[in-house]
Amino acid sequence: MALDTQHGIPVARTIADLRGEVNAWRKESLTVGFVPTMGALHEGHVSLVEAAKAACDRVVVSIFVNPTQFAPGEDFEAYPRTEAADAEKLKDKAALIFAPNAAEMYAPDFSTTVTVMEVTKDLEGAARPTHFAGVATVVAKLLLAVLPDKAIFGQKDYQQLLTIKRMVRDLNIPVEIVGGPTLREEDGLAMSSRNAYLSPDERKVAGKLNVILRETAHAVAKGAPIPAATEAGIAALMEAGFASVDYLEIRNAETLDPFPSGKPDAPARILVAARIGKTRLIDNMPVE
Ligand code: PAF
Repeated sequence: MALDTQHGIPVARTIADLRGEVNAWRKESLTVGFVPTMGALHEGHVSLVEAAKAACDRVVVSIFVNPTQFAPGEDFEAYPRTEAADAEKLKDKAALIFAPNAAEMYAPDFSTTVTVMEVTKDLEGAARPTHFAGVATVVAKLLLAVLPDKAIFGQKDYQQLLTIKRMVRDLNIPVEIVGGPTLREEDGLAMSSRNAYLSPDERKVAGKLNVILRETAHAVAKGAPIPAATEAGIAALMEAGFASVDYLEIRNAETLDPFPSGKPDAPARILVAARIGKTRLIDNMPVE
C-alpha cells in the first residue's frame, strides 16, 4: 500500500513501512543518511538534513517526540508538534519521513533500556538524571530501524552527540555518527525548538547566553583559572536576567571530564544550561 505523503514526501508511520522503503533503496545500492529529530524543525535541523543529503543518496528524517527522555514536569506535553510545517521544510531534501506514534515505538510492557555510563554522569546527566537513558534507548531503536550509513546529530546537544558516539562504538552499531555545527540567530542565540517558548523580553536576555559563554571561554583560553572564570560567567548570567544556571563548566572535549588543575591541558569545551522563566536553554562551544 502506498504511504501517506506530506508536501510530496512519503511518511512511514510503522517500522515495517520504513524498512520497506529503505530496503528498496538498498537493492539499488543507494546510501542512506539519517537525521533523527523531535520535529518543530528550524534552520539548524535543515542544515543537518542538507549535510546528510550532501553525503548520502537518500535521507530519512524521523520526527518523534520521545516520551522517555522527558522527566515528569518537563515540557513533553508542551513540546511543539508541527508535522505539516516540518515536512514543508524538508521538501527536496528528505526522501522519507519516519513519524511513528508512541505505541509503534514502545510496547506496553517495553522493558529494555540502553544506559551509557561516564559521558552522561555530569552536566545534563546530573540536571536530568533519566534523560540520556531515554535518548540512548530511542536512538538505538531508530538506528536499528533505519540502519543508515551515516546519522547526523547537532553539536548544540554536545553531550548527547558524545553519548551517541559512545553507544554506537560500544554496541558495534554499524553506522557513522557525524556532528553538525550549531546554527545561530543574528545575536548568536543557538537555534532551538525551545526558543519558541521565550517571550520578547526573555528572548532579549537569551541572546546574552552565547556572548557570556564566549567571553568565559576566551578568558580561560587567555589563562584565567577555570573556577574563577566560570564563577564570573555564572554571575554575569544572573546579572543579565537569567533566573538560574544549572551549570557553566569547562570540560575535556572528548571525555567531558573536569580539569582538576584548573587549566585546560587537552582540547576543551565550555557547556552551559540556564533558565529564563519556564524555558531552559543549553549551549556550548570550543575553548580556543
Ligand atoms: O536531539 C533530539 O532532538 C533528540 O534527543 C533525539 C536525538 C531526536 C532523540 O529523541
